[in-house]
Amino acid sequence: MKIQNVARFHSTNDRPPFKNRVGARAAPAAARKKRLVQIENPCCFAASGAAQYTPQGKPGRETPRVSDFFDMHSHLLPGFDDGASKSSESLEILYQAWQAGFRHVVATPHVMAGFYEHQRDEVEQAIAALAVETAVQTPGLRLYPGHEYYIDDHFMGWLAQGEIHPLGSGRHVLVELPLLKLPPMTKEIAFRVQIKGLTPILAHPERYNDVIRKPEVIHDLMASGFRMQLNLGSLAGMYGRKVRRTAEWMIKNRLVDFVGSDAHTPQQATEAFTDGLQVLTELVDPAELARLLIRNPRDVLFREETQ
Ligand SMILES: [Fe+2]
Repeated sequence: MKIQNVARFHSTNDRPPFKNRVGARAAPAAARKKRLVQIENPCCFAASGAAQYTPQGKPGRETPRVSDFFDMHSHLLPGFDDGASKSSESLEILYQAWQAGFRHVVATPHVMAGFYEHQRDEVEQAIAALAVETAVQTPGLRLYPGHEYYIDDHFMGWLAQGEIHPLGSGRHVLVELPLLKLPPMTKEIAFRVQIKGLTPILAHPERYNDVIRKPEVIHDLMASGFRMQLNLGSLAGMYGRKVRRTAEWMIKNRLVDFVGSDAHTPQQATEAFTDGLQVLTELVDPAELARLLIRNPRDVLFREETQ
């Protein structure tokens, strides 16, 4: 079934598009209602008629029927980096996000000197182009500009020149470090980012070798000013057993501030938005789920403080 059929699906309760890929299973209406998870003020998060959520994933492992979630990390802009290569992939990633209850997605293409150096206005233009198409197939979904900066000497130079751009209209910046070994200057880097009036968010800390080996290092990183963004795919085992174990440890110890899909492809989006989201809902209570998926991201994108 083609992506253009989404509007028809929602108007007729027909089978969802991408059914084969995400393995969606419809449950009786009464059963779905029973599984509805109430988060904070329900009126803010209840799915609208147009955005009817159909539980999906493995049989018996449905995710909560809520909406207004934020995805803080995504490589969905077509042709920008090693993520989506064409707009049809972007739209499929966004549809999967929307179907899982996400209504806000931050586009965070890699910025890495010599490889990916797209400017902010290019990101904003690509988002504007995508927004026209998403208005039909994912009503209510909003896109925000961002970047995922690889920290190296070039980043520090851009930082000194005031050329680092935050997520949305806030003051937080998403950064990544070498996975194999955290640089000795990691805490110094956090300090230098902060004296520029920005707060660093460390992308997928559960994937760093040094963190896997000694998870307690997260405490030091947070004390130096980093906030933590966990990948949903890590909880689904997308990066292996050790990463999954580290991710679960961080969630259980409330050492995570934000979550994101880090989706580069529709396949990764499927893992993140079905199994990954399901595991997260099993590990935390509704209040913590709202903090991670709604309140903290909302504060970061539109205001300056998180809880
Ligand atoms: Fe990423």
